[in-house]
Amino acid sequence: MYGIDLLMKEHESIVALTKHLRRTCCAVIEGADIDVQEFLECIDFARTYADKHHHGKEEQILFRFMLNNSDPVAEKLVRNGMLVEHDFGRFHY
Ligand SMILES: [Fe+2]
Ligand SMILES: [Fe+2]
Repeated sequence: MYGIDLLMKEHESIVALTKHLRRTCCAVIEGADIDVQEFLECIDFARTYADKHHHGKEEQILFRFMLNNSDPVAEKLVRNGMLVEHDFGRFHY
């Protein structure tokens, strides 16, 4: 398995979390009880798995490779898109 395949596989778990959170938030808006413990576990998953584990690999390996082996358009994508998205998530800490 290539590194990029592993990152894509990890995305599947992260997307599953976001879908779960969307469903759960919609249920709360419609009157369901809030399961605080479940939300705390989701936040922990986002911080440890999605950010530290997955984003760490993207930043330390993938983005560095892209910056060293790509054109100026790709560099703008990494610096002004992908890294900014990671920072947006960290603003919630
Ligand atoms: Fe990712
Ligand atoms: Fe990312």
